[in-house]
Amino acid sequence: MPETYPASPDFIANAHADADTYERMYAQSVSDPEGFWGEHGKRIDWIKPYTVVKNTSFAPGNVDIKWFEDGTLNVAANCVDRHLAERADQVAIIWEPDSPEEEAKHITYRELHAEVCKMANIYKDLGVGKGDRVVLYMPMIPEAAYAMLACARIGAIHSIVFAGFSADALGARINGSDAKLLVTADYAPRGGRSTPLKSNADAALLNVFHDCKMLVVKRTGGQTTWTEDRDFDYNALRETASAECAAEEMAAEDPLFILYTSGSTGQPKGVVHSTGGYLVFASMTHQYTFDYHDGDIFWCTADVGWVTGHSYIVYGPLVNGATTLMFEGVPTYPDASRFWQVCEKHRVNQFYTAPTAIRALMGQGDDYVKGSDLSSIRLLGTVGEPINPEAWNWYNDVVGGGRCPIVDTWWQTETGGHLITPLPGAIPTKPGSATKPFFGVQPVILEPTSGEEIHDTAAEGVLCIKDSWPAQMRTVWGDHARFEKTYFADYKGYYFTGDGCRRDEDGYYWITGRVDDVINVSGHRMGTAEVESALVAHVKVAEAAVVGYPHDIKGQGIYAYVTLMNGESPSEELRKELEVWVRTEIGPIAKPDLIQWAPGLPKTRSGKIMRRILRKIAEDDFGALGDTSTLADPSVVDDLIENRMNKL
Ligand code: WTA
Repeated sequence: MPETYPASPDFIANAHADADTYERMYAQSVSDPEGFWGEHGKRIDWIKPYTVVKNTSFAPGNVDIKWFEDGTLNVAANCVDRHLAERADQVAIIWEPDSPEEEAKHITYRELHAEVCKMANIYKDLGVGKGDRVVLYMPMIPEAAYAMLACARIGAIHSIVFAGFSADALGARINGSDAKLLVTADYAPRGGRSTPLKSNADAALLNVFHDCKMLVVKRTGGQTTWTEDRDFDYNALRETASAECAAEEMAAEDPLFILYTSGSTGQPKGVVHSTGGYLVFASMTHQYTFDYHDGDIFWCTADVGWVTGHSYIVYGPLVNGATTLMFEGVPTYPDASRFWQVCEKHRVNQFYTAPTAIRALMGQGDDYVKGSDLSSIRLLGTVGEPINPEAWNWYNDVVGGGRCPIVDTWWQTETGGHLITPLPGAIPTKPGSATKPFFGVQPVILEPTSGEEIHDTAAEGVLCIKDSWPAQMRTVWGDHARFEKTYFADYKGYYFTGDGCRRDEDGYYWITGRVDDVINVSGHRMGTAEVESALVAHVKVAEAAVVGYPHDIKGQGIYAYVTLMNGESPSEELRKELEVWVRTEIGPIAKPDLIQWAPGLPKTRSGKIMRRILRKIAEDDFGALGDTSTLADPSVVDDLIENRMNKL
């Protein structure tokens, strides 16, 4: 089997960038960022054009990132209004419901315009204005996109909370941004089941002590309870709302959205993205990475609750005038052929999903794929975690029929868009490698302890980025010091990604996974500290330590070591109780896969838990525990190993 996979000559001939174009544009983007982005910034519409392109500093104590700072624009006008002249009747959003029995919807740009304006007018009537925060807790329905774009239209800042998060997590995020309005739906159907979003939202607001109204979209029409003067019925208000609403003129650096994400310490932080730089970069990456051409049907299977949904379901595709597919369901409902059925039904041209979904579907066998006509697909993509060669090969051969380039896109909530990814017509791929940097992105590999940059082509260490790119996050909401400390303190003068990385002799980048206490469960980012703090909030738990461990489908699973309070004893009931507890505190995605009762945890004499050891035990790698002599009580480790072995 060849080691590298170039795209077919046909693909290359029609691609936005071939190898020469990539080399030339990349070289200009790093030697002359002002010139490069000054030119490409014009791909979107500005109300007042910028004259200053880049004004960025990673200097310790003075991290300040501004792009296009004196320009003004409106994101919703860019994603909707500017397409009306030429493509008002083109479909903007194809919506595929959870159940294949229910009818799909096709929303044109003209309809999208009316819906966004109506929602924006409803917001205004509820007292929401420029700079106010609006929290969205939504199913994957078109109204989620309307709700995002309506914020952008009036200059409100949205903060989306994934509908799989619990009421407690939702409440914390509403408080965190002092939101004036919560937009939700009655229920969220998914995989044949239904999550009661409205009742979760009711519970969340019990812990919110500022004035926060609730706008409720009817999805199923199921029963809900109603609080007068606080809750508002979207469907009723929509009937009379005007379909015209002027778009607010925003500065390029005004925040567009906040999105909470997990870090290695403490509670999730609110990543803040800008208006101008974010949109330019979302537009450019969507076009080049996916080789998007006018008329293509683009499907990103993420949820709008994650950054992938923000950039590649809503903002990137819509700013480019694309047709974007929004899917409410899951890959395995009603059965494991659903993704492929949807691809066939809507003639999808680019398909973008997560390795965890590929592994799960691969496990169900090829027949589920073979029953669908996938000839419309031209390109496949992956995101969220490293893809193992077995899954890559299956995706390439069985799904792509060996015809479709696979773009393995490395990026983060913080980066706003792709940073390392093949451009499909330009860069032959290697299974498991995110390949080369996108325009304007300068990855560097540092020696982890010294922080020295390794200049040899072949290198391994921590991945940092040398200079700013337009969609870089600007700050942590309400805590700029935390922004500097998290990303710019460990390696001075660089943006620290938290990922380990290898660069091979061809200059290809291979992400090796997180080097901090963040784990990646089914492509969902989870801070071990969050799960720990949920566990210790339970009255019977004295202490907890959480690590990731290799999991066949999820990539990583959640492994929790739990020390009980004196007098409590382990039992199956208690294990279940703790699982349910974590689900309620955070949400189903944080439920531990394995709980090991630990009479004691390995700690240094200064009381610091030695996670390295816990990780090795969870991986069953007992031979590689390293030096345990600095432990306060080395016998703890023997107990843990014995317990682990008994369980296997
Ligand atoms: C991981 C998701 C390997 C990485 C867009 C990163 C990946 C974290 C890839 C960010 C990839 C993302 N290959 N690892 N192609 N893409 N990651 O913020 O560890 O949810 O730091 O953003 O996912 O996760 P986040």
